[in-house]
Amino acid sequence: MTRIFSGVKPTGHLTLGNYLGAVRRWVQEDQQRADALFSIVDLHALTVEHDPARVRRLSRQAATLLLAAGLDPARCTLFVQSHVDEHARLSYLLECTATDGEMRRMVQYKEKAGRERDRGGSVRLSLLTYPVLMAADILAYETDEVPVGDDQVQHVELTRDLAVRFNQRYGHTFTVPKATHPAVGARVMNLQEPTSKMGKSDDSGPGIVYLLDEPDVVRRKVMRAVTDSGRDVVYDRDERPGLANLLEVLAACGGAADPAEVAKGYASYGALKRDVAEAVVELLRPLRERHAELVADPAYVDGVLRDGADRARAIARPVVDRAYRAMGLLPAG
Ligand code: AMP
Ligand code: TRP
Repeated sequence: MTRIFSGVKPTGHLTLGNYLGAVRRWVQEDQQRADALFSIVDLHALTVEHDPARVRRLSRQAATLLLAAGLDPARCTLFVQSHVDEHARLSYLLECTATDGEMRRMVQYKEKAGRERDRGGSVRLSLLTYPVLMAADILAYETDEVPVGDDQVQHVELTRDLAVRFNQRYGHTFTVPKATHPAVGARVMNLQEPTSKMGKSDDSGPGIVYLLDEPDVVRRKVMRAVTDSGRDVVYDRDERPGLANLLEVLAACGGAADPAEVAKGYASYGALKRDVAEAVVELLRPLRERHAELVADPAYVDGVLRDGADRARAIARPVVDRAYRAMGLLPAG
C-alpha cells in the first residue's frame, strides 16, 4: 500500500492556505487511499524565535483542528514529531549525507534568513539544517508520496537526492519519495499582498484567513482584499495577482479545476468578492463547529496523539536502526 507522510509546523494558527494547499487533500484523498501519517512537526517550530508556551498551545490546537477537518484516527496516524525520537536520530545521519552548499541553496532558507538578518537578528543553525530534519521525517517512514503546497516541493526534491545518495553509498535503505500537490490552491496568496504566500508564521494580518476566524472576520478580510486596477474579471496570475488569487480560492472552494472558467461568471469585483467570502465561510463552518466540540474533550485528543506516536514509532524505529547499521555504527549489544 502507498505510504504517505506530511506535516504542519505549529508556528501559528492554521490558515486557509494550509487547508486548501494541504489539509483538505489529506482528509479527502490521502487517508482514504493510502497508509497515511500526519505529524505536527514541533521540532521545526524551534528553528525560529519562539515562545515555548505558545508552541505547546499551537501544537495541541493544530492536532485538534486536523481532527476537526476530518482526519480520522481509524484511517490515518496523527502524531507529534517530538514524541518520536527517530526523527532526531535520523536527522543527524542525514546531516552526514547532505552538504552545506545544498542547504544554503534552499529558497526558503535564503528568504527566511535574509528577513531575519534585515531585522538585525541572528539565524539559528537549525534553520539552515531544517530541510534535513524534514527529509528525516519523510524517510523514516519509507514514504512514497508527500502531499504539500508548492513552497515545499524543493525540500522534497532534496529529500529524494539524499535518499538516492545514501542508498548508493551505504546500500539500499530508503524509499525515494515524491511530492504531490493539488491542481488549484497549491499556493494561496496573502489577501493584502498577493505576491507573497498566505503564511501562518507571518504577523497576524488582515490578509490571512485563519481556519478559526469568525464568519464576519472572514467576510471582512475577503471584502478588503487588494485587487488590481483593472475593472473586468479575467484570470491573469502575473498581471492581476490579487484577482487571480480570489479566483483560485473560489475555484478551490468549489472543487473547480480552472480559475479562468470561474472568471467568466463575473462582471465585477464586488460580486466576485461576495461569492468568495461566502464560499470560504461555508467551507470553514463545519470545521469550526467540530473544533468547538473537540476542544471540550482534550483527553480524546491526547489519546489520539498517544496512539499515533506509538504507531509511528513502530514504523520508524526499524528503518532508522537499519540506517544506523548501514552507516557503520556499532549496534548496542
Ligand atoms: P506550514 O504552514 O509551513 O507548516 O505548511 C503546512 C502545509 O501547508 C505545507 O504542505 C505547505 O506547503 C502548505 N501551505 C502553507 N501555506 C500555504 C499556502 N499559502 N498555500 C498553499 N499551501 C500552503
Ligand atoms: N517544512 C514543512 C512546511 O514548512 C513542514 C514539514 C516538516 C513537512 N516535515 C515535513 C511537510 C515532512 C511534509 C513532510 O510546511
